[in-house]
Amino acid sequence: MTSPDAAPKAGLEGVVATSSAICHIDGGQGVLAYAGYDIHDLARDASFEEVCHLLWHRRLPSRAELGDLQSDLAAARRLPEAVSRLMRSLPPGNAMDALRTLVSSLAHSDPDVGDRSPAAAYRTAVRLTAQVGSVVAAWGRLNAGGGVIEPDPALGHAANFLLLLTGRRPSELEARALDVALILHADHELNASTFAARVTAATLSDLHSAAVAGIGALKGPLHGGANAEVMRMLLEIGADADDARVERTIRDMLARKTKVPGFGHRVYRTEDPRATHLRRMSQEIGERSGSTRWYEMSRRIEAVMKAETKIDANVDFYSASTYYMLGIPIELFTPVFAVSRIAGWTAHVLEQYANNRLIRPRAEYVGPEYPQPFAPLDRR
Ligand SMILES: CC(C)(COP(=O)(O)OP(=O)(O)OC[C@H]1O[C@@H](n2cnc3c(N)ncnc32)[C@H](O)[C@@H]1OP(=O)(O)O)[C@@H](O)C(=O)NCCC(=O)NCCS
Repeated sequence: MTSPDAAPKAGLEGVVATSSAICHIDGGQGVLAYAGYDIHDLARDASFEEVCHLLWHRRLPSRAELGDLQSDLAAARRLPEAVSRLMRSLPPGNAMDALRTLVSSLAHSDPDVGDRSPAAAYRTAVRLTAQVGSVVAAWGRLNAGGGVIEPDPALGHAANFLLLLTGRRPSELEARALDVALILHADHELNASTFAARVTAATLSDLHSAAVAGIGALKGPLHGGANAEVMRMLLEIGADADDARVERTIRDMLARKTKVPGFGHRVYRTEDPRATHLRRMSQEIGERSGSTRWYEMSRRIEAVMKAETKIDANVDFYSASTYYMLGIPIELFTPVFAVSRIAGWTAHVLEQYANNRLIRPRAEYVGPEYPQPFAPLDRR
């Protein structure tokens, strides 16, 4: 009988489980880079579609390549009728549950399902990235009682998402705010949902199954669920709360040892570089909409957290107020994370397929002593 070599690290903290050419994080320095490109450059000057190409191919697209990708995404944006029908038949409920079900159902209409070639897997990755956006937007619209909206091939992925969700063409600032949020959430090395997706892919299961595994992991409040928790906390504190009330609420949470959503990170020991851009977006959208109340409350909370715990804001903290001011309903905040992270999940799955070995770690056994004397049922 073999046994694991070393005692386990709780939560696999610091364990290097694979090599990957997709995403580099230096948690001490606050560096995040996709295929070598600094996240600050990408957030300033790239589009989500360029970032998708970068994650999938490890290089930025030429203008012609970007045009081809935009056409492929546009062609896949309209949902298969069977999926739209299934969506209408689901009872109203948790949007992540609906997303998990509907992404699973997309496999039934995928023309490349069952084709194991890298070219087919890539086509499915592009298709899934287009479709996850359409599923989340259509689910939000359906639950708000709105009718189906046709995607506009002339608009980018972020603008199309807002159009399909709200029925209104977004302003340039709104579309760019979501585009930046999608860029910032697109990949993050071996985070819990990406690891779940890679483990699934490493059994040589298909991309839809890997995406469903990723969605399941993302749903939890310690991962993607945190952005919705942040907004619920801000609303509970109340738009008209004064600074004293904001500070009291946070100090009470800390005294009760309740985690403040949107703070802390397993890897970063300094500011999450994604928070820097979302903070700016939250402020800009607030200024444009005539009220920076949510932004200011968030700043106050950040200051209290810094003073009391030295723990920094993570990606979820300012994405909450940004999404809220974009008119995205709170129950869609975590699904919107998936609208972006599907690019990273699929990139990691393609990378896993290209050099696969089954991922199968060991557990340190700590159960009842072996061997236990076995008594048949009628003598127990
Ligand atoms: C992200 C997170 C899960 C990382 O977890 P982790 O690496 O396992 O770190 P731990 O939960 O062990 O936290 C380490 C210490 O910091 C404290 N801490 C971490 N995040 C905190 C938060 N958001 N609020 C208050 N205290 C926090 C913990 O209480 C713990 O303190 P202790 O050592 O005195 O017990 C954790 O910071 C968290 O739950 N944050 C809130 C949820 C969130 O925003 N998730 C999105 C992440 S992008």
